[in-house]
Amino acid sequence: MPLVTTTEMFKKAYEGNYAVGAFNVNNMEIIQGIVDAAKEEKSPIILQVSAGARKYAKHIYLTKLVEAAVEDSGLPIALHLDHGDDFEICKSCIDGGFTSVMIDGSKHSFEENIALTKRVVEYAHERGVVVEAELGKLAGVEDDVKVEAKDAIYTNPDQAVEFVQRTGVDSLAIAIGTSHGAYKFKGEPKLDFERLEKITNLLPNFPLVLHGASTVLPEFVEFCNKYGGNVAGAQGVPEKLLRQAAQLGVCKINIDTDLRLAMTASIRKHLAENPGDFDPRQYLKPAREALQAMVAHKMRNVLGSSNKL
Ligand code: G3H
Ligand code: 13P
Ligand code: ZN
Repeated sequence: MPLVTTTEMFKKAYEGNYAVGAFNVNNMEIIQGIVDAAKEEKSPIILQVSAGARKYAKHIYLTKLVEAAVEDSGLPIALHLDHGDDFEICKSCIDGGFTSVMIDGSKHSFEENIALTKRVVEYAHERGVVVEAELGKLAGVEDDVKVEAKDAIYTNPDQAVEFVQRTGVDSLAIAIGTSHGAYKFKGEPKLDFERLEKITNLLPNFPLVLHGASTVLPEFVEFCNKYGGNVAGAQGVPEKLLRQAAQLGVCKINIDTDLRLAMTASIRKHLAENPGDFDPRQYLKPAREALQAMVAHKMRNVLGSSNKL
């Protein structure tokens, strides 16, 4: 089974009211942990690579590792560029074997975002590759932000319709209150479900994407703090809110921070308990297993993607 695009995955997810996890990958252990979880859970997966990951591991190493994962597991896997910020990086990933790319023009004006996204869509579609774009800005939006300011940051539903129609994009990342990293909310975690519902109603059968969707489970914060990784006060998106989003047209949920926390916490614990160890396999094996358990938990209890192959 070769790499697949997200088209079929999203169609099934939309109809089945669940979401496919898009997990960020940077090295072999991360890829293996995610793929082992997908195999165990019989779940579709998207492996995504950021510009930083490409710089860290090199495009060729990551694509060859993902090819190995496909061959070894027999699973349908989509390989996606996360947050491509210009045409060149998208082109390089399309030419270099990715089946999906994100062009993130959210920092540009509405018209510039449309023009850039359209250019990537034309190039990608001619080569059988699908495209995700972003409209609205993901940020730590405070509760006291005025409605007009919030409208400028969160995705405007009418603009979303115009954006999708004019670009021909295959999926759209929306801003409804999530943000990247471990510190997402200062007060009570809240997502703008009214806005999400509006967008879904205006764009029926169209796959939406939620970035910044790590949960940062409180027991992990405690665990990390105990072993020396200080993430005191970190707060992610509660799992209940993610399940709700998956019922409302969100077909792709992006998770990176939770994988970083699971892996790093495991490594810290291992080295604290086994100060004499220096063979990387001794701490990377349990770290890979901790990541696998985290991903399997997401599939089963949050995304609803288990047994959907
Ligand atoms: O949204 C960003 C992802 O978490 C990737 O992060 O750019 O540090 O690889 P990165
Ligand atoms: P988190 O930081 O919440 O894991 O989000 C990851 C993400 O959106 C990658 O694009
Ligand atoms: Zn993101």
